[in-house]
Amino acid sequence: MKREARATARANIALAKYWGKADAALNLPAVPSLSMTLDPLLTHTRVSFDDGLAADSFLLGGHFAEPEETARVTKLLDRVRAEAGLSLHAEVESNNQFPTASGLASSASGFCALAAAARAAAGLPFDRAKISAMARQASVSAARSAFGGYVELPLGKPGDGTHAASELAPPSHWDLRIVVAVTSEGRKAIGSTSGMVHTERTSPYYKSWVDASPKLAAEVRAGILARDLPRVGTAMEQSTLSMHACAMAAAPYVLYFRPATLAALDCVRGLRDQGIAVWATADAGPHIKALCHVDDHERVAHALSRADGVLRTLIASPGDGVSID
Ligand code: DP6
Repeated sequence: MKREARATARANIALAKYWGKADAALNLPAVPSLSMTLDPLLTHTRVSFDDGLAADSFLLGGHFAEPEETARVTKLLDRVRAEAGLSLHAEVESNNQFPTASGLASSASGFCALAAAARAAAGLPFDRAKISAMARQASVSAARSAFGGYVELPLGKPGDGTHAASELAPPSHWDLRIVVAVTSEGRKAIGSTSGMVHTERTSPYYKSWVDASPKLAAEVRAGILARDLPRVGTAMEQSTLSMHACAMAAAPYVLYFRPATLAALDCVRGLRDQGIAVWATADAGPHIKALCHVDDHERVAHALSRADGVLRTLIASPGDGVSID
């Protein structure tokens, strides 16, 4: 017996950042976050439950994944099996259609596509909130990729396993661009999960970060609804730098910035001084992502590609939520 389904999900970038957990066991966020779902950064995933399999297997980009990665996939599959009353093992195949070394994390689109494909293969009905909640348990940012356009994920209430993201506005609401300035080819030194757990344990600024986040997220939210880019951008930069400052104050420090990150950040401010509406964000890695109007993206990309240490740029626009293929 074989039950198979395929799903496609897109990466997302947080405009108001998530960093810290309200409940580690259920993987609930300690702060609210908002994001934009990104085209053309796609992950395609196929899940096949099969009674001929002795264990789950996970093929990522054509290669068998590391045991820790496979264990994370199995954990998600276990939840799907429990909900669907299924005991079959699964073969999982996932491919990122990201331009090589885009500098964008694939875990958000990956876990979201996995949750959608696994639920469909197990015969569960398509439900974005349920896909989002299931993806969230694997990785909080993945919860946001279930929806398209502009997405919000409130802070979690401890014990609430159903906690999910929702759509704030569809992709057509506002045609913004994200220009990614890629500054390194390698993998990040400290993963986001361990980086934030360590920040929470040791940074004296963690409480301030958690206390300040709701107001910044509310600003980003209001700015998106009003299509007010300076409002979104100003709050997004403050959310980003607050998150990084909090992580930098951990012991030992968690520092994702490289010299090229600062050069790109400076470049964005320089463009603003010239009158261009552009603001920067950065995740648990050294790349800068600049948010601007569609008409300015070529100028922004050109300037960023000339900043010291920037290897290349990539343009992303608002994209759709997860789908079953
Ligand atoms: C900096 O969602 O990767 O990108 O829930 O532990 O898997 P886990 O963390 P993850 O963290 C993403 C952190 C961030 C900000 C964001 O996307 O909101």
